[in-house]
Amino acid sequence: MFIKALNQFSKLFLHHQSFAAYIEPIMQVFKPAWRAGFFSAKVIAVSPCSHDFLSVTLKPSKQWRSHIAGQHISLTVEVNGRLLTRVFTLASSPDYFKATGLVRLLIKTSSLGQFTGQLQQALSLQPRCNISPARGDFVFKSWHKPSVFVAGGSGITPMLAMLEQQLGNTNSPMQLLYFAKADAHQCTNELTALAKSFAHFSFSLLTRDALTPLTQHINLDAQPDIYCCGPGGFMQQIADFANQHRLGYFQESFGLALPKLTEDSQFSVKINKDTHVVTSSDVLLSQFEAKKLPVQRGCGIGICHQCQCIKKSGVVRNLKTNQLSDTGEQLIQLCVSQAVSDLELQL
Ligand code: FES
Repeated sequence: MFIKALNQFSKLFLHHQSFAAYIEPIMQVFKPAWRAGFFSAKVIAVSPCSHDFLSVTLKPSKQWRSHIAGQHISLTVEVNGRLLTRVFTLASSPDYFKATGLVRLLIKTSSLGQFTGQLQQALSLQPRCNISPARGDFVFKSWHKPSVFVAGGSGITPMLAMLEQQLGNTNSPMQLLYFAKADAHQCTNELTALAKSFAHFSFSLLTRDALTPLTQHINLDAQPDIYCCGPGGFMQQIADFANQHRLGYFQESFGLALPKLTEDSQFSVKINKDTHVVTSSDVLLSQFEAKKLPVQRGCGIGICHQCQCIKKSGVVRNLKTNQLSDTGEQLIQLCVSQAVSDLELQL
């Protein structure tokens, strides 16, 4: 109750999401790896894999409470003196964490990426990073039905965790359809070992041109549940297929499917002394990035608070909660905020 009141006070008067966030700079004098709302994790191993993937093994602090296979975490790393956060699905299972105290991420890097492009070097210089509690509802639903896991590119990571965790719990058929560029499939040795150990598991390494017709790969008579993770367009195709054949369908959306915004009312946004025009057809963060305003993107889905700023006046809609803000001063997250009136912001 007291903590809740303190956090409310911090939001209203200190412009911080929580009291812990407010005292973060002081805490870091004594414990440099301390971050409000995050857990410290020791960097155990960082190793490059083929096709620009990076395998990262972390040992979370004792306070971190494991995960459910398929869930994701935010990873915060200091890159060139700035704290950057991105969201990644854990590729290892809760059983692996229980046995070893470790978690593994499999990250697709890009040499141009502000975060992933520098991740290997940043983690090799830092003994610790920060992770969030595990989140997300892309988790395994039923041991009693056949399951087909459909992964596109780096969408293989939650599937690895789910297979590792669930194969021993059921005899129902489990099948993995793994789409990637030719020869760019990851963890094929692990998948082969799983297929040898569990007779009810099979997998196919496919390229995107094999995506249609999916009926070639999926036994519709068995009415399997479909689990899908991959790029947006890819998931849409699989979702359409599942709907068409009335199959149970579950997909990873990092806990937040932002609605598509189609209105394009225009509003003026006063930022410090300048005035800009924005529309309501996109979130504020993307529009400010396009205008090259000094904003910071982290997770992009309303988790990490890196895009947070003070709204001095005006109304925004939080697309995560679909709630309208008050007209007065409050903290907002630009990546999930849609303008619904003229605004004044302090970046
Ligand atoms: S970028 Fe993470 S909350 Fe907005």
